[in-house]
Amino acid sequence: METEVKLTKLASCAGCGAKVGAGTLVSMLEGFRTHQDPRLIVGYDKSDDASVYVITEDTALVQTTDFFPPIVDDPFLYGQIAAANALSDVYAMGGTPRLALNIMCLSEQMEKEAVQEILRGGYDKAYEADTIITGGHTIQGAEPIYGLAVSGFVHPKKVLTNSGAKPGDVLILTKPLGIGILTTAAKADLVEQPLLDRIYRQMATLNKAARNIMVKYGAHSCTDVTGFALLGHGFEMAQGSGCTVHIVTDQVPYHKEAYELASMGFIPAGAYRNRNYAEAGVTVTRSDITLPMQDILYDPQTSGGLLMAIPEHEAEQCLRELQDSIPSAAKVGYVTEKQDNWIYLE
Ligand code: CO
Ligand code: CO
Ligand code: CO
Repeated sequence: METEVKLTKLASCAGCGAKVGAGTLVSMLEGFRTHQDPRLIVGYDKSDDASVYVITEDTALVQTTDFFPPIVDDPFLYGQIAAANALSDVYAMGGTPRLALNIMCLSEQMEKEAVQEILRGGYDKAYEADTIITGGHTIQGAEPIYGLAVSGFVHPKKVLTNSGAKPGDVLILTKPLGIGILTTAAKADLVEQPLLDRIYRQMATLNKAARNIMVKYGAHSCTDVTGFALLGHGFEMAQGSGCTVHIVTDQVPYHKEAYELASMGFIPAGAYRNRNYAEAGVTVTRSDITLPMQDILYDPQTSGGLLMAIPEHEAEQCLRELQDSIPSAAKVGYVTEKQDNWIYLE
């Protein structure tokens, strides 16, 4: 649906590119008083995708929220993408989402039909994810915002944090990179419609199938690649796991057009923030890993794929099964004992 008022024109930054930098958040939360609870097995201090709270021996609650300004003009698609992105953090913990609440901000210029379509998109994805939207909260503000607060469940012993990677693990990424660069260039009308349709469909795709397969193959660790980019989230996984992450650059899936656009300078502000945050932890081992390629690895993704650490002996079979339903899934690297630096680009 095309509405008269272009949604993205009402937004000052697009999608997960609006996310505040990782370093900034950590420093702002410092020194706050909070209760300790042994049932909280993943909390705010872990910079993980969601919090996890043990309820019974075999059930833990997974909670997360995500919302952002419009990344596309089609309100239904925007709702789908925002919901898929919010649900993704539960999948990234190895969990299954069950309940959700709408989080919405309306700006005065928005048409009623657009608001309805955004919500319809959210309900559509929630339904696909077997999740019930039970209510929510809507306010008026300067810019439109939409997203979900999601609750799900996971077995307390099967939680996939971003700190469980082990030496020998194979790293698999399920969605191609370059979304931030492409959506930035799209604002200047530099991206052809067929490619836009493809990346919109990619962003609206749930990480549900990816989650189900990774759980089946006993993944050790997982995170979804969103605002902090492959290298930002990879950096957190490396540090959290106390291991070194090796990225085999030639194997990383990305949209070729994003490479051209990055060389032309279409780099979202978030990519610079991600570089500032992670660069000291990244060693570039080859001089032919170009700057545009590095920009793609620092590019913030909206509703990106899962980055999973799969035990070596299961990796090949796991990848084959992933590729049956997610053709873009690719092996992007491997994990070793901690070396001099956290990430090696090879
Ligand atoms: Co996440
Ligand atoms: Co998130
Ligand atoms: Co995780």
